[in-house]
Amino acid sequence: MAMQLDKVVPFGRSLDEYRQMFALSEDDLVRTIIGVGDGPASFNAEMHALGKQVVSVDPLFAFTADDIEWRFYAVVDAIIEQVKATPDDWVWTYHCSSEDLRQTRINVLARFITDYEAGKTTGRYVVGELPHLDFTDNQFDLALCSHFLFLYSDQFSYDFHRLSILDMLRVASEVRVFPLMTLGLQPSLYVGPLMQELHSIGYTAQIQTVPYEFQRGGNQMLCIKR
Ligand SMILES: C[S@@+](CC[C@H](N)C(=O)[O-])C[C@H]1O[C@@H](n2cnc3c(N)ncnc32)[C@H](O)[C@@H]1O
Repeated sequence: MAMQLDKVVPFGRSLDEYRQMFALSEDDLVRTIIGVGDGPASFNAEMHALGKQVVSVDPLFAFTADDIEWRFYAVVDAIIEQVKATPDDWVWTYHCSSEDLRQTRINVLARFITDYEAGKTTGRYVVGELPHLDFTDNQFDLALCSHFLFLYSDQFSYDFHRLSILDMLRVASEVRVFPLMTLGLQPSLYVGPLMQELHSIGYTAQIQTVPYEFQRGGNQMLCIKR
């Protein structure tokens, strides 16, 4: 289904946030990585500048840099106002204030935009979407998915999550997903049943507590391996 830009919140996170959300070690950073649903994160741009290999896949990449930037500025103030109105829902350690959060998201977007056209040309930003990734089996060492799966459990079915994670496991030998809670700050009800299904077909699936927590209670990452 074609993505409608007016339904997307094009907020992205930095390499430092990815490192914390996914507990990425120095060894992890030299693996071949696919970022699924990376959107306008600066993870790929910053990794590329360090000489590391990341391919980002997202339906958002069907749009131009101008479209994505326009959409960001159309929604940023309303989102920051929502955050300000619910201060207790957030942990103010990584981001010190709503203004700090706003500035970080602006900086991340700007970093992404400077890299986007060049990265598209060289195949680092690829249009695609879960639950099926257009990549070959075992093409990557590590698949990362942040702020999409589990977060939108109210919008996407259990079956969508199951198929998506199995397809990420087809293209990469390890998958990490963060966070494990929904937009409504509830633990996703899909996590337990999915872990059981994965164990029953021979994968190890473990929940790991990580240093990053912005959504209150959202400091857990699911790590799945063959
Ligand atoms: C909230 S953003 C998170 C961006 C980035 N992962 C981060 O944490 O900074 C969610 C992203 O999921 C993408 N998305 C939506 N539907 C998707 C799908 N079916 N498969 C992969 N990504 C999708 C959106 O376009 C958007 O860029």
